[in-house]
Amino acid sequence: MAPSMHSIQLEEEIQALRERLATHEAMRVTRDLDRARCFLGRYSFLVWDFMTLVGSMRERFTRTRLPWVPVGIPELRRLVHQISIVEESDEALGEGASSHFETFLEIAKELNSETEVLEEVIRRIRLGEPYPHFLGSLDVPDYIRRFLESTWHLVTRGSHEEVLGVFTFSREHVIGDFWSKGMEDLSWAGEVGDRLRAYGERHIELSANDHEPFARDALERLCGEDRARWGRVADAVHQALRVRLSFFDGLAKELAAIDELQESA
Ligand SMILES: [Fe+2]
Repeated sequence: MAPSMHSIQLEEEIQALRERLATHEAMRVTRDLDRARCFLGRYSFLVWDFMTLVGSMRERFTRTRLPWVPVGIPELRRLVHQISIVEESDEALGEGASSHFETFLEIAKELNSETEVLEEVIRRIRLGEPYPHFLGSLDVPDYIRRFLESTWHLVTRGSHEEVLGVFTFSREHVIGDFWSKGMEDLSWAGEVGDRLRAYGERHIELSANDHEPFARDALERLCGEDRARWGRVADAVHQALRVRLSFFDGLAKELAAIDELQESA
């Protein structure tokens, strides 16, 4: 399906915001291990949170209750399954299947990033504690908590088109300099460098060739020529990009504090 006037217009509107994200200070390509540790540890939250969005799409656009009956748009079901299979059980990144999140977390841990808080979040969810309410009782930086809460608000209160729109235009589409330009020299990462490169390249390959065009196509099918739906998509995408920008602003402050420490040492 060719992009509609609505999606072309939206893409133009958010071009500047997306450019700011891709070239954000927090995304600066780094060869410094302390900086990279902090970046990867914090970024793990984004990788994890992305799966909430994927899971929400599965609930909304495929039949997850029994007995099975056909639901929704077949192309959209296909998109969701294709995304789920690689995001939750990719075989391209190592031995056997693994979710991108687990692979990413392993890399972050091998580089001694701080991942304990996120692992505690996951542990509490498994125990059945009410998410995201318990986040306030953990040592989650405010900018990360706000980001997670905003995704949760979207998946619990948002419309179908808002969820798919945010996936298409503010998550899948935005790959920053760290991932697109930082893959050349990963010598600072030692033995883990190859895995980090494989992760980054896999992501770029999947989003540019698969997920993004398919997601966009599915969004076109879902919204059609309905101006009200496209309006909701545009609002949700702007909001999601702004929250993402705040995430990177918060992360950049942490990284700047690391730089300062090093300069004064
Ligand atoms: Fe992924």
